[in-house]
Amino acid sequence: MASTILILNGPNLNLLGTREPEVYGSETLDDIQAKVEAKAADLGLEADFRQSNAEHELVEWIQVAGDTAQGIILNAGAFTHTSVAILDALQAVGLPLIEVHLSNIFRREHFRQRSYVSRAADGMIAGFGGDGYVLAMDAMAGLLAKSVKA
Ligand code: DQA
Repeated sequence: MASTILILNGPNLNLLGTREPEVYGSETLDDIQAKVEAKAADLGLEADFRQSNAEHELVEWIQVAGDTAQGIILNAGAFTHTSVAILDALQAVGLPLIEVHLSNIFRREHFRQRSYVSRAADGMIAGFGGDGYVLAMDAMAGLLAKSVKA
């Protein structure tokens, strides 16, 4: 059976396309979802793509993924920089995790340069806009292939 990858998007990412396009680009979240689903099909993976503005919903989806998914790709938006609850959920499920940001958070305000998510992540992709999610799918396929061999 194909491995399922949960692709989770946090607050305000539903506004992509109109939200600060000079920072986040002009692609909408639907555009990114379409690219991710096409990539998943190429890789023989199942993509479960979601967005929520609510921290508790993201925590619940991460918890459920512990039983239903084989990996997580996460752009937690502003919760990246604030949420111990999301970090705790990620550490509790212990799934392969790739952190994604559309912008290069290290080139931005100081408060964006700390990520709680990174403490649980295998790696991070930042600064490539929506393409970062596609790169993350490739990286996830690599992680899963390695864990099967090990
Ligand atoms: C973001 C960066 C965060 O600092 C910001 O709060 C977001 C988007 C990104 O994708 O670049 O909402 O995660």
